Amino acid sequence: MSFPITLQVNASTVQRDMAPSRLLIDFLRDDLGLTGTHQGCDTSQCGACTVLVDGKAVKSCNVLVVQVNGSHIRTVEGLATSQALHPMQEAFGKHHGLQCGYCTPGMVMRALAMVNEDVPAEEGPVRHALGGNICRCTGYQGIVSAVCEGLQTLRANPSQSVPA
Ligand code: FES
Ligand code: FES
Repeated sequence: MSFPITLQVNASTVQRDMAPSRLLIDFLRDDLGLTGTHQGCDTSQCGACTVLVDGKAVKSCNVLVVQVNGSHIRTVEGLATSQALHPMQEAFGKHHGLQCGYCTPGMVMRALAMVNEDVPAEEGPVRHALGGNICRCTGYQGIVSAVCEGLQTLRANPSQSVPA
């Protein structure tokens, strides 16, 4: 059995017949080749698989494709242009908010959702908001500094925020 689904994935409209058991992470990585969305724990704990669904941070290992039918999915591949990285990505580079980089796409997508959640660009609230994202390299100080700067930049320049 399959169901027809239509999704906006980054700049593309995707239509497929979808098995009801297909996970969003598998669809993104295996069917669409968007391997920037990383698979870590597969049990909704690490956050490496975080994407935006209609502007909200969602762990894609824990969501079925049919559940997000009709939504706009934004992955890390949908952030940079051919000319420049997204400001949040720039902030991660500037503050050394990554070591091995495995958690980084999920951290960046989680950080972008904070713009819509009105998370203050301060260490305490940002650390709390990142509670569902694990960095096994433990580079949290750089990550938190990057997210704070990224939030400040995006709030000062709303046109650079990621549309839902
Ligand atoms: S792979 Fe989804 S939360 Fe870890
Ligand atoms: S930078 Fe290695 S897991 Fe976070």
